Amino acid sequence: MKHYPVMLPEVLGALAPVAGETYVDGTFGNGGYSEAFLKASNCNVVGLDRDPNVKSRAAQLGEEYDGRFRLIETPFSKMDEVGLSEVDAVVLDIGVSSMQLDQAERGFSFMRSGPLDMRMGNTGPTAADAVKSLSHSDLIRIFQVYGEERRARRAADFIVRARDEGEITTTEELADIVERALGRSGKNHPATKVFQALRIFINDELGELYRGLCAAERILKPGGRLIVVTFHSLEDRIVKSFLRRRAGEVSGGSRYAPEVKHEGPVASFKEGKRSVIKPSKVEVVENARSRSAKLRFAIRSGAAPFPMDDELLPRVASLSDLEARL
Ligand SMILES: C[S@@+](CC[C@H](N)C(=O)[O-])C[C@H]1O[C@@H](n2cnc3c(N)ncnc32)[C@H](O)[C@@H]1O
Repeated sequence: MKHYPVMLPEVLGALAPVAGETYVDGTFGNGGYSEAFLKASNCNVVGLDRDPNVKSRAAQLGEEYDGRFRLIETPFSKMDEVGLSEVDAVVLDIGVSSMQLDQAERGFSFMRSGPLDMRMGNTGPTAADAVKSLSHSDLIRIFQVYGEERRARRAADFIVRARDEGEITTTEELADIVERALGRSGKNHPATKVFQALRIFINDELGELYRGLCAAERILKPGGRLIVVTFHSLEDRIVKSFLRRRAGEVSGGSRYAPEVKHEGPVASFKEGKRSVIKPSKVEVVENARSRSAKLRFAIRSGAAPFPMDDELLPRVASLSDLEARL
């Protein structure tokens, strides 16, 4: 699959690169954004990724843009714990990379037979562990909340029955079980939402996103830009609610949290002129994956960061609940 950096012109427009500034590309991936930033101005870029497989691509950029690029292997939720501060921008392009989807052995795709892994990094429980050890009710909730799967109970019923007969260890096995449970209709594979849900769970993607936004708030200097590209409503809802709260507006954006009028600290972000930007028609035609992308951006003020609360996150079993069962 060819790799396209999603919404690159819009990201560059929001970033407005300037020589001498330092940008954090929090989701380095294939380095599409980092390379574009380095080309656009004589800036410095720090790439972050939790996937050690990006190292060779990062080494290439390091050589090509001597002294202006480096990679730190870390989840972006910890960007404020790896020596970064007073940066001019943080850019996040949420989700898996086409590189990760393409590698059968990573287990992200029901289209490719591989071990049921789905971890972006190489630590922590796998999707096979989740399918083996989570309770029936936790599986239902994960499929409902992270997959927005209407027939979550039926998928979980079939999985629990199948695992009683033997461990489910491959993507193919899981895809077949879910297909037997839900049947084929429409153009998408019936296991699409179950796979999405397990991937979000195993990588704690929503928790990472929320903590990543809070960490960005701590390391951005006044005037620094926060630019976030998301691919589905669960993610966008978190970014939107985070920014509305930080801008001192009524939250209201989360269906998990009551509406709260912010009366605490002074606004720590000001939202960009257009609160949400979508990809151009041309990009959607060229790269179907971009069709659900949304870009939000905001400018950091000089006010202190807000205290962290995780009420923007849905209440679902956590990775530590799973680890306790293994
Ligand atoms: C959609 S790709 C980014 C593509 C990149 N913008 C480009 O142009 O090549 C997302 C990347 O972010 C990484 N990633 C996702 N969540 C992460 C997290 N919480 N911490 C660090 N890296 C993460 C993934 O491993 C993947 O390599």
